Order: sequence, then C-alpha cells, then structure tokens
Amino acid sequence: MEQTNFNNIVAHPFLKWAGGKSQLLEKFRGMYPPQLTDHKIKNYYEPFLGSGAVFFDVVQKYQIENAFLYDINDELIMTFKVVQKDVDALLQLLHRYQKKYSGLDNEKRKSFFYDERTKYNLNRNKTDYNSYSDKWFARAAQFIFLNKTCYNGLYRVNSKGEFNCPAGEYANPNICDEQNLLAANRVLQIAEIKKADFNNLLNDIKPKSFVYFDPPYRPISKTSSFKAYAKNDFGDDAQKQLASLFKKLDKKGVKVMLSNSDPKNIDASDNFFDELYSGFNIERIPARRIINSNATRRGAINEIVVTNYATKGI
Ligand SMILES: C[S@@+](CC[C@H](N)C(=O)[O-])C[C@H]1O[C@@H](n2cnc3c(N)ncnc32)[C@H](O)[C@@H]1O
Repeated sequence: MEQTNFNNIVAHPFLKWAGGKSQLLEKFRGMYPPQLTDHKIKNYYEPFLGSGAVFFDVVQKYQIENAFLYDINDELIMTFKVVQKDVDALLQLLHRYQKKYSGLDNEKRKSFFYDERTKYNLNRNKTDYNSYSDKWFARAAQFIFLNKTCYNGLYRVNSKGEFNCPAGEYANPNICDEQNLLAANRVLQIAEIKKADFNNLLNDIKPKSFVYFDPPYRPISKTSSFKAYAKNDFGDDAQKQLASLFKKLDKKGVKVMLSNSDPKNIDASDNFFDELYSGFNIERIPARRIINSNATRRGAINEIVVTNYATKGI
C-alpha cells in the first residue's frame, strides 16, 4: 500500500525557488521509476535540491528509507539543516518575524525588509557554513523571512554573492507556516543533507537507488535569469559532465531521471539534450514557468525529461 503522508500532514516545499517543480509533480508522477511502487527502491538522491519539491513528493508516497539531498548553495543547505534538526527554535524566530511584519503598514514593511536584507548580506562573511551551530537558527529564519516577503520569491544574488531581490507586496505572507515546517522536519529525518557539487554523488551512491537531477536550466533566452541561482554559472560543459555522471549511474543499475528546460522552446533545431542523452528515454511535457520578472514571458513552454527506464507516461 502506498504511504501518503506523515502524521496526516503532507509536507511540501517551505521555500519558493527558481525552477521549483511543484507545478510539474502531477506529470512527473507518471515518470518516476515503476520500481518505487513495488518497494525495490530504498534510497533517494536529489543533488540539485532547491526547494526539494520532488523529494517531498517521492518520500511521502513511497517507502524510501534514506534520502541524500545536496545543493551547492550554502544558505539553502543551512536552512534545510535547521528545519531538520532545530525546527522549534526556528519556529520561535519565524513567529517573531510574522508578528512584527503583520503589524506594519506597507511602507514600514518595505524598510523592515531592506534592513533585514542589509543585515543578511553583511553577516554573510561572518557565517561559518561548515559547522552546524545555534548561530544558524537566526540566519535560517532570516532566509525564510526574505524568501517569503521578497518580490516573486526569487532567490537571486549579485556578482558579490549578495542577495539582491527587492521587497514584495503580499497582503498576508505566510512567513511562519508552522504545520508545514513541522511536517517537513519529520520527513527530513531520513535525509542526509550536505553542501556538495553534483559530481560528488558517485562516491555516495548505494544500490537500490533513484536519482533525480534538476540542474540549473540552460538559459532559454539571452535575457533569461534562470541560471542565476548561485555565483557560478552552469554552462554546457557542466551539462555534459552531468550527462557523463548520468551514464555512469545507468551502468551501475541506478534509476535516473533528469529534467531541464527544452531548448527547442526557442530554437526547434537545438538538439543539445537529444544528442547528449541519445539512447535514453526522452519525453517533453508542457510546463509553465512561474518565476519570471516579465509577465509576458510566462507562456506555455516544454520541459524535457530524460529517464534510463520506460515510464508509465503522463
Ligand atoms: C532548478 S534548481 C532545482 C529546483 C528544485 N528541483 C525545486 O523543486 O525547487 C537547481 C539547483 O541546483 C543548484 N546547483 C547549481 N549548481 C550546482 C552544482 N554544481 N552542484 C549542485 N547543485 C548545484 C542550485 O543552487 C539550485 O538550487
């Protein structure tokens, strides 16, 4: 029987993240490896974690025993770890943010947001991302506060690594989503969370595993900011390294699924992924980008999904 939730509350991503997959989960469910249903897969890996939409979906639907969640973004990993280990302390701080922010008018909300953003950027160099400590709690709370109240929830940094997203204008942002954070905390107990480059995955891989890769998109237009997740870019060379890892995992018998924006959305003759993953199962599914600063570019576009197994189909 499929497991559907932990203590009746289904956890979902507690951050809004560029490239987040919540909108695609229904379609993805027909593309997960069939071996999940008959419990032949025990381990789940997501090395481009972001908000972890697929992680939350898979581990609450199937009997996964261990999850391995990696991302190169140290602020993101810090926040996930605090949710995993010290959710009560985090909730206390978020309640304070919620109370303070809700009591302010629009102008004061804006200046509060920019004050917090300035403090957050100033403290970046003073933060030790390598050793877990109670100093992480305030920073994780600040990260969630900024994520919930910034414009479009877009995590964006400038060339100096400073968070530079402007203030949003939400009537009632859910800064402290207590039920969801508690549910996420429970779900995360099976997870090993670490800051890592995706290439480290090969050292950690166990048998009976499913890996989902959601790398930064190849930019779909010259003005697209979809690769601006962290300071480093993720160019075609990185996409090729990832394809080589995909093939190594395939040889080890690991089930692998990868998604990316379909370059054919812009140029029908662009066969980059078709060539990179030739011989594997490639499907295209309609996707709607929800994070784009230009509303006119929010039209229907395809996501490309590559698997090394036959899917049930969407
Ligand atoms: C498309 S997002 C993942 C979105 C996620 N699936 C979700 O639902 O929110 C890509 C992620 O890859 C991370 N990333 C970028 N370069 C990386 C690298 N070399 N190794 C690991 N993670 C990386 C970014 O920090 C970002 O969080």
